[in-house]
Amino acid sequence: MKKIISLCKRRGFIYPGSEIYGGLSGTWDYGPLGAELLYNIKEAWWEKFVKSRDDMYGLASSIIMPEQVWAASGHLENFTDPLEGEKFNTMFKSKVGALKGETADIYLRPELAQGMFVNFKNIIDSYHPKIPFGIAQIGRCFRNEISPRDFLFRVREFDLMEFEYFVREKDWEKYFEYWKKEMWDWIKEIGLDKKKVHELEVAPENRAHYSKRTIDFEYDFPFGRKELYGLAYRTDHDLKNHKLDYYDEETKERFIPHVVEPTFGAGRTVLALLSSAYEEDEMGGEKRIVLKLKPQIAPIKVAVFPLLANKENLIKKAREVYEILKPETAVMWDDNGNIGKRYRRQDEIGTPWCVTVDFETLENNTVTIRDRDTGKQERIDIKEIKNCLLEKLK
Ligand code: GAP
Repeated sequence: MKKIISLCKRRGFIYPGSEIYGGLSGTWDYGPLGAELLYNIKEAWWEKFVKSRDDMYGLASSIIMPEQVWAASGHLENFTDPLEGEKFNTMFKSKVGALKGETADIYLRPELAQGMFVNFKNIIDSYHPKIPFGIAQIGRCFRNEISPRDFLFRVREFDLMEFEYFVREKDWEKYFEYWKKEMWDWIKEIGLDKKKVHELEVAPENRAHYSKRTIDFEYDFPFGRKELYGLAYRTDHDLKNHKLDYYDEETKERFIPHVVEPTFGAGRTVLALLSSAYEEDEMGGEKRIVLKLKPQIAPIKVAVFPLLANKENLIKKAREVYEILKPETAVMWDDNGNIGKRYRRQDEIGTPWCVTVDFETLENNTVTIRDRDTGKQERIDIKEIKNCLLEKLK
């Protein structure tokens, strides 16, 4: 973990929150590479679970919600951790409004789900979806954790990626199994080490107040096996308490749908991916750190180098290559130090390919593409570079 945290800080993935004022525990700031990595994860998730499906409705609801929501959902009463024999509610509380008598208590959402429930009727009125269907969102959540720890693992504000899938009660087990498989699919798709992921059937006494069945997807983090994602059967708990229901136009029946809910922590995904991908090995007789991230997830896809930084014609040609690739994908320019050092620098941020413009380029318009994992180089024509990389990224 120390090595990962130090790499993250040094290379601009993740910094301690408010560091110049001594930091604020439980907060971390994503630097340029971390922000890119986080964005790639969210984009892949949105593509898989929302955009590519016909039964999922996207949402971006408010972070602040009035006390009534949390009274109905049961969070006021139950979203607590034990502290010195008392129950400590971990929701952040604040007020909206300025004038006396016109203020109202609000809470920063500790989960996304309530945004989906309070908009359930809106989605139905706008789209008339047929059951089963889901409402999905990605967004910030806040929990006043008593003891934040283990880097991104337990923090006080974090992004969740979550959806509520509305089904008939009789079908909940079928869809629970279905979404469990889809979650495994996602785990494979983003390149997490499958051998490090384990399902845990959560015992009734450890389940959240709204759940009748929960499976945790646990991950072998460097500090132990801990929860990565959750899959919960929320029954009709939330819709019932918000006094919402569903009318089936075909069968003319009115009923309260039941809910299967997969939840993915985005920060825990970043941490699991970094610890899956981090390796120290030797290449060409030299020690190196390498992040073996899937190219689709890696923050930078390709780096472009002129062989020497002080040769005008090399720089001009390398700039041309850079300009060809820049509109297509995330590209980094590096002309600092020798080529070996530049490869090492790209390896440790997980860049899958490095393109070098050398003296041969000036003669025959070819460049080398070097592969992060094998160290192998191939020469290709500059005319083909764009298609070649886009093909590799598919
Ligand atoms: N709506 C369901 C729900 O929020 P949860 O088990 O409380 O369920 C879901 O949280 C996920 O959120 C966890 O599996 C984890 O990935 C992430 N998570 C929860 N607390 C967190 C924290 N303090 N820091 C980072 N991630 C957290």
